[in-house]
Amino acid sequence: MTVSSSQNLASLVRQEIAAIAGYVPGEQPQDAGWTKLNTNENPYSPSASVVNAITAACQGRSLAKYPDPFANQFRAQAAEVLGIDPRMILCGNGSDDLLTILVRCFVGAGDAMRVPTPSYILYQTLADIQGVPCEKITFTDDWSLPSTFAAPCTEAGQPVKLAIVPNPNSPSGTLLSPEQLLGLAEQLPCPLVVDEAYGDFGDTNCLELVRQSERIIVTRSMSKSYALAGIRFGFAVAQPAVIEQLGKVKDSYNCDAIATAAATAAIADQDWLKKNQSLIRATRTRLSNELRRFGFSVIDSQANFVWCTHPKRSHKDIYEALKKNHILIRYMVYRGWGDGLRVTVGTDAEIDVLLSTLGSILKETK
Ligand SMILES: Cc1ncc(COP(=O)(O)O)c(C=O)c1O
Repeated sequence: MTVSSSQNLASLVRQEIAAIAGYVPGEQPQDAGWTKLNTNENPYSPSASVVNAITAACQGRSLAKYPDPFANQFRAQAAEVLGIDPRMILCGNGSDDLLTILVRCFVGAGDAMRVPTPSYILYQTLADIQGVPCEKITFTDDWSLPSTFAAPCTEAGQPVKLAIVPNPNSPSGTLLSPEQLLGLAEQLPCPLVVDEAYGDFGDTNCLELVRQSERIIVTRSMSKSYALAGIRFGFAVAQPAVIEQLGKVKDSYNCDAIATAAATAAIADQDWLKKNQSLIRATRTRLSNELRRFGFSVIDSQANFVWCTHPKRSHKDIYEALKKNHILIRYMVYRGWGDGLRVTVGTDAEIDVLLSTLGSILKETK
């Protein structure tokens, strides 16, 4: 069949794609002068060894060749640091790439996936693209999961083939314990993906559980705790047999040579990570306390951001007033649940700018 010249090609895309708006990432202004606290980037430069590794990766004819399809250099280094078998690691173009691979791998026509809400909005988009329902189960008031999260089928009767729980969760910054997640994995009829994009900022994580249960898959990001959001690198940790299956679904060369070299150098520098973790945690405590002094209700965070709500002020107005002052935070609305503000932990200097501007805004709009 040929497409007549009068027919609009865009109208021929699959119905599922035409029907969705597509994921909208947080604002990324390209001009200078912003205090950017909206997309949970690390406010510090990555380990100095990253730049050296990138330079080395560009020497001679290296970039003329395709990269290692499985980024084995990173797998070996990460396996040593994390104390796991390299065959338990699959690398990706950011952890979003791994989430895409997981959905494509486990959820077929007639199946469903399940996630908690409010959480990472991308999960719904991945389900939409795959053409499958994404059942959202609301967190309880104390940010744990109700028992319905473990049900074998959705309310509409589709079998649940993949469950994803961000831990620490975004936007709340709250953490479920490894025991809670292991219990959940044992009840669920499908794999449980623990999305640990913010795992390095929390007090506990679920890496150890992967050894205990083949039902648990952990995804990790190099964007946040290693300050490499601009590079795009993440990895999944699962039993080798699961990794082998996931490997069939990924793009042939999903991690480029520069990103692989950078991520390998970054994960090798655990001293840098430890220093960075303590800087972020200290500023996180200060930011949370100061926001409380301004009258916000702030949840104790285990991530590199804090979630806050104000009992009397419009969250949208606060976001917009800050934006007029070249300060970006994230205003988030979850249909049927509510809204609030998510603030990335920046440097102390950035947080000072935020707090002093916020103080003036709250006074002016009293
Ligand atoms: C919960 C969660 N998971 C995964 C990601 C994706 O991280 P990346 O693709 O940069 O590794 C993000 C990014 O903001 C996130 O918030």
